[in-house]
Order: sequence, then C-alpha cells, then structure tokens
Amino acid sequence: MATHHPVEPLVPVSVGLPVAPTLAAALVRRLGARYSMEAGIDVDAGDTEVERWFVASTLFGARIAAKVAKRTFAILEKSGVHRIADVAGRERGELVALLDSGGYARYDFRTATKLQTLARQVAERYGGEVAELGRRFVEPDELAAALDDLTGWGPVTVALFLRELRGVWPGARPPLDRRAAEAGRHLELLCDEGGDELAHLALVARLSACDPRDLEAALVRLALAHPKSGGCRGGRECVMLARSEGLPSDAARRIALPGCRRVTIRPMRSDDGPELVALYASLDEEDVYRRFLTVRPPPATFVSNMAAVAERGGGGLIAAIFDPSGVAHVAASDGGGQGPRERIVAEATYSPLANGDAELGITVVASARGWLGPYLLDALLEDAAARGIPNLRADVLTANAQMFAMLRRRGYAVIGCDSEPALVRVAVGTIGNVPSWPGSHSARRVLVEAPGGRWHADNALRHAGFEVMVCASPPGGWAACPAWRGEPCPLAACADVIVDTVPGKAGRLLLDAHRRTHPSVPLCAELSRDVEETGPLAERILRCSPATAVAALLEQVVGPPEAPRTLPLAADSTIEVT
Ligand SMILES: CC(C)(COP(=O)(O)OP(=O)(O)OC[C@H]1O[C@@H](n2cnc3c(N)ncnc32)[C@H](O)[C@@H]1OP(=O)(O)O)[C@@H](O)C(=O)NCCC(=O)NCCS
Repeated sequence: MATHHPVEPLVPVSVGLPVAPTLAAALVRRLGARYSMEAGIDVDAGDTEVERWFVASTLFGARIAAKVAKRTFAILEKSGVHRIADVAGRERGELVALLDSGGYARYDFRTATKLQTLARQVAERYGGEVAELGRRFVEPDELAAALDDLTGWGPVTVALFLRELRGVWPGARPPLDRRAAEAGRHLELLCDEGGDELAHLALVARLSACDPRDLEAALVRLALAHPKSGGCRGGRECVMLARSEGLPSDAARRIALPGCRRVTIRPMRSDDGPELVALYASLDEEDVYRRFLTVRPPPATFVSNMAAVAERGGGGLIAAIFDPSGVAHVAASDGGGQGPRERIVAEATYSPLANGDAELGITVVASARGWLGPYLLDALLEDAAARGIPNLRADVLTANAQMFAMLRRRGYAVIGCDSEPALVRVAVGTIGNVPSWPGSHSARRVLVEAPGGRWHADNALRHAGFEVMVCASPPGGWAACPAWRGEPCPLAACADVIVDTVPGKAGRLLLDAHRRTHPSVPLCAELSRDVEETGPLAERILRCSPATAVAALLEQVVGPPEAPRTLPLAADSTIEVT
C-alpha cells in the first residue's frame, strides 16, 4: 500500500498574486484532469494502481498519439498485463500483436523489446515491484535519476509519471512542468514574476476545489492543444476557454409540486421579454424598487435587452410554473385563447462586468416565494462558475432582509456602500463560501473581517484609494472561515492587509487562524481597549478612532500604491508545443 502524504504543503504565497478559482475549475472541466484518471487509474488507491500507472506512463511518455497509448494500455490490461512484471514470460510476437491492435505501427518489435527489457530491469533492480522505487528513493533527484536509468524512460516519461504521483511517493516532487507554467502565465493564473509557482498553483487549485495534479495536467493539456499562431489574448479570453460552457439553451430541470403542478427551471431566452414585462408589472412597488432601484418597472426595451443576456456572455434562468388546474391567458404567439400553460414566476440573471465578475439580478413573485429564491441563486452561481466567472455582484437595499438571508447562506462580502448606507454593493463567490478579489490588481487590497459586513471606516479607506472587501463571515459563522480550518481563504491570501474587527474570543481565534494560514499578510485588529491581549500585530486600531485616522494607519502598514502591474498577455507570445 502506498503511503499517502499531503498532496502539497501549504506554502505562504507572496501577497497580491491573482487567484482565479473558477477559471482553474473551468479549465480542468474543459480540458481534462490527470492522464492517469483518463486511463481509469487511481494512483492514490495503492501500489497496484501505481503499477498500472507505470505501464501506462511507459506508453503515454513515448512519441505516440495519446489516444493510441490509451487504447493500447486498455488492450494490454485485457490480455492480463496490469504491471510491468506481467510482461515477463510473454513472447515478443505476442506483445507485437497486442501493440499492433492498439494502433502501433505494424510489427513494432522495438517497443515490444523495450517492454521486455523494462520488465527484466524492474525484476533485477527492484524485485519486480515498481513500489520499491518509491520506497527506496525519497529524494526527488535520486528518484528521477533511477527512473531515467530505465530503458525507454527519458525526462518526458519521468516527469509525466512523477507529476501525477505528487503526494503519493515522498520523492515524487518534480518541478512544475514547464508547459504548465507557461500555460498558467498565459491564463494569468500565475504572474510573470517567478516565485514559488508550484505553491501558487497548489493554492489556486485548493481554492478551486480541485486536486493540484489535475490543474497541472489541465495546463499541460492546454499548452499542447493551444493554437500556435498569435492573437490569443490569454487570461479569461484565452481561445481555449472562450466557448461558452453555460447551460445549453434547451437544458431544463423539472421539479414536481403537489397537485400535478410543476416548476421548470430553464435558461432565459431572448423571446422571454414580453412575459418578463408582465412579471415585473405584477410586482408591488416595494419589490420593483428592491429589484431595479426605481419605482416603476423597467421599459420593454430594457427588458428585451436583459432577456438576451446570454448573447452578451452572461446567463439567465427562468422559473415557470405549470398548473393544469389554472387557466391563464395564452400569448398570441402560442395560438391565443385561454388554456393551462406555464407562467413565469421567477427570473435570475448575471451579466458580465469589465473586471471579470458579473452583475446579479433576481426576482421571485410573492406567491412563489419560500424556496425558489435560494434554489435559483444556487443554480445561477453554478452556471456562472462553469463559465469561469468568479463572483456575482449586486446592489442590495439594507432593508432587503430576504436577499441578505439568501446571500448569508452563500457567504458574501460588502465591496461598497453609500455614505448613508441604505444600499450596499455585495459580492458572492461562485465557488466555495467566500468571494474572491477581481482579477486585476491595481489598488492596495484591504480585507476587513466584520460581523454583518458593516464597518465604520470602509468608505474612508475606499476614498483613500484602497480596494476594500468587508467579509460578513461565511455561512456557519467565523468558525466556518477557511483560515480557521487551516485552508487558504481567497480574500485573505491575496489581501495586502487584513483588519480583524470581530470582537471577543471569536476575533482572537480568527487572528490566530490568519497568523497560521496567511503568515505573509500583515494583520491589524480593531480593539475596544489598547491593552487587549491579541498577540503580535502590524497595527492596533482603537474602536473609537476616526475613519480618516484608520486610513492613515493602514497607509503606513501597506505603504504607497505600486505602479499598476502588467499581467502577461499572450498577444505577441505563443505557447510552445512539444
Ligand atoms: C429576494 C428574493 C428573490 C428571495 O426569494 P424568495 O423565494 O423569497 O426566498 P425565500 O422565501 O427562501 O427567502 C430567502 C430567505 O429570506 C428569509 N426571509 C423571508 N422573509 C423574511 C423576512 N421578512 N425577514 C427576514 N428574512 C426573511 C427566508 O427565511 C430565507 O432565509 P433562509 O433560507 O435562511 O430560511 C425575493 O424575495 C424577491 O424577489 N424579492 C424582490 C426582488 C428583490 O429583492 N431582488 C433582489 C435584488 S438584488
């Protein structure tokens, strides 16, 4: 049984690197995860699976199309070759025939001989067990050299084999694949600044809820498949990701309700305009105001444009109720007259913003409330995540208790508010329970941890040129904060300073959690008395301090703004394909 080590130690990353969890998740979904998984091998499941991966790597690492290697591996397995030792005792002619039926060139004696030699070497040097290599060589260089010394195993095969064994064998710690690093920079998952790129990718992967090995493999796949010609702008606009991956326009979920009624949730279509106009006309004044911040429902032209949101790279969902007992007016386009039909009772949309996030809007008619709002929001977030959009933003009236209750269930941060905060601008992440900073990093970032997302000095900081996100606590309270569990938080890991305003024991535990998990980010605490015991801090902020004084204090902690960063855009560069 292989020993399982943590896949990647959590190494603090330098402050301010861009983190794009949804982009990473979309990449893995789009281009594929580990090659071993593609071949049906789970290297985490023990030595037997690693043995299979050794045979598969021998085939994948050679200069042959991946699909031929995959097919040949399946054929070898079917004939009883699950480990390299199984090759021993087989006639060369039998192996040639197996390779032949997998798609190798006819009469490939060379590869057959190579497999036989490899089996003999593993038998002589490691008692026939590939796992012995992992046990014997715990230093990365020694392990790589021992593998490289095997017949037919060059640097490409060694790197492929070890990349997917990270965390399984102690010595399997190869450097980040060069092609993966290039693709990572092309997608702006990595900055062009050196540093520990492997640790940074591991962090992005963890924030994206995917295995770092899957992200690395997906990046290699991207590098291999990316068109060589220039013209790709990289980042979220990379041609390999540009295809929309949202819900197909005919996708629908049907939810049965009592009394033969049902709710259909389906993508919004541009011809939904007239029905949406009717939906908004049926709302009372307060709901119209909550949704559009105007007292009158929007004009038909605005609604038609909104219904075509998918054409602008966003997404929309419609919830329609079918009630066989109810008789509703049937639109002229449906033949006119009276009869049972589906009636739109809710809509939810997101439209892309220039910073990579998207603007959220949602309405549920009063008669359909009770569960539909949270359901639609979850479905919308899922759809936005699939398109690589990291956060949805919304302007919410502070009196809108239902909307805040819904946002609390997902975890939100306040990103702006007016001076008389009747209205706050909030962001929810499409993955996990914490939002993230938008892609570009031009301003100094202050993360404030504050109950309910409210803090007296956030606007003063914004006026002073800081980008401020006030985390209202994840759903489940501060104990559900990723840092509390020792996991990186996308807001904290990429902040230039963290200000903890949470009072009492929870606040102190949160400080400890950030100290442990994000040691490179300066930490400040807002305290009611300057004698409160908190451990080492970059600065103490007294609760009664005026907002302008707080801004001046944080200026000292963070320093002056840097010149805007230029992120690597690949318009004039190409990804090398090997
Ligand atoms: C916001 C809206 C979409 C929510 O949809 P919904 O179907 O009403 O959602 P729910 O009934 O499940 O209510 C959402 C949450 O609010 C809570 N809630 C309901 N009424 C409440 C009230 N009067 N006070 C406090 N919380 C309330 C619910 O308990 C639920 O929280 P929970 O999931 O933790 O139990 C819907 O109320 C609406 O369309 N409002 C008008 C338009 C609007 O405000 N749009 C948002 C603009 S950004």
